[in-house]
Amino acid sequence: MSSPKATSNVSFNGPEGQEDMPYLLTPGPLTTSSSVKLAMLADWGSRDIEFRQLVGDIRSQLVTMSGAGDDYECVLMQGSGTFAIEAGLGAFCPKGRTKKTLVVINGAYGHRAVKILQHINRPVTTLEFDEETPVDTAKVEAALKADLDIEVVFIVHCETTTGVINPLKELCQTCKSHGKTVYVDAMSSFGALELNMKEYGIDIMVSSANKCIEGVPGFGYVICSRELLEKSKGKAHSVSLDLYDQWAAMEKTAQFRFTPPTHALVAFHQALREHAKEGGVVARGKRYQKNCDTLLTAMRKLGFVTLLDDNVSGPIIQTFLSPAHSNFDFDTFYDGLRRHGFAIYPGKLTKRDSFRIGTIGKLDSAVFTQLIAAIEIILDEMGVDSPLP
Ligand SMILES: Cc1ncc(COP(=O)(O)O)c(C=O)c1O
Repeated sequence: MSSPKATSNVSFNGPEGQEDMPYLLTPGPLTTSSSVKLAMLADWGSRDIEFRQLVGDIRSQLVTMSGAGDDYECVLMQGSGTFAIEAGLGAFCPKGRTKKTLVVINGAYGHRAVKILQHINRPVTTLEFDEETPVDTAKVEAALKADLDIEVVFIVHCETTTGVINPLKELCQTCKSHGKTVYVDAMSSFGALELNMKEYGIDIMVSSANKCIEGVPGFGYVICSRELLEKSKGKAHSVSLDLYDQWAAMEKTAQFRFTPPTHALVAFHQALREHAKEGGVVARGKRYQKNCDTLLTAMRKLGFVTLLDDNVSGPIIQTFLSPAHSNFDFDTFYDGLRRHGFAIYPGKLTKRDSFRIGTIGKLDSAVFTQLIAAIEIILDEMGVDSPLP
């Protein structure tokens, strides 16, 4: 088994309280505040009343933040975001021969939902768009009219493959007007981009702890209509990912069925406090947008080219086309930036070489100004005089 090489010649100037570690310029796990990290220094008993109250408080705060209302529930699920997505697909997507789920795809996370549905033997149909463009609502509507057996529509809000933001409100309202159950993967957007479940007509929404709320990894959450949840009893394909059972146990005992990620939950509770203190979704979105504007302006000045137009790219993560220069090598670029205290992200495009820089996490625009200075140094060291793709 090969193990990753440690980076030599470290000259980090990283996040507060952890200056020897890099800023994570990724879509999560991401950089968290020192107070979120400090919250994890205590060991909480999963049966203790204080812990159970904290879990209840997280669940109700998330429902409020999603604009869902009293007839919705929040179910927390151990594991990464995909575990929560899969639990929701198993609970809400039709079984059998007639009804099916439409997955709207413009990147890897739509494909992943299809893979899960196929694996758990649920009928699925797809509508695929180019990775470089947002989903076209008119085409989704045409697909719904053409196939009346579609019962659930699965939509990704921010497709983190590229950072493209799909027109969520318009898409969801259109699907709802056709009587569909609307399932939204808002993994990388919830907490920073506007989303109102009631107003948009969203029945199910999934996100996770280590994204825009700025917690640490350990669990995901499904916010969904109570009626749908009740109807899902006995439908799950898995014991550990049985969303109904997880909910029923949480309602009855205020506990998880199986060992909860206690430290991640306590950190998340602190992260929610900081989210509210910052000014909620609007303020968080503004900070990320400022990070993004600082990054894009400076990168373009250096000659880098983005994959997406600014009107569709959103403030979560930016995709840059790899320089065509023969001296450019992503691993060398990555290692160089890592030495300067910045961890960036490889590209995930199927057709073009690219890399990504996340603008979410406990970061402000000053971090991106420092990043640009480091990028200039690394390009110079690599002998790349033009980063044009
Ligand atoms: C839109 C979207 N969906 C699903 C996932 C999967 O989440 P995880 O990697 O936590 O399983 C991600 C991860 O970044 C994501 O961005």
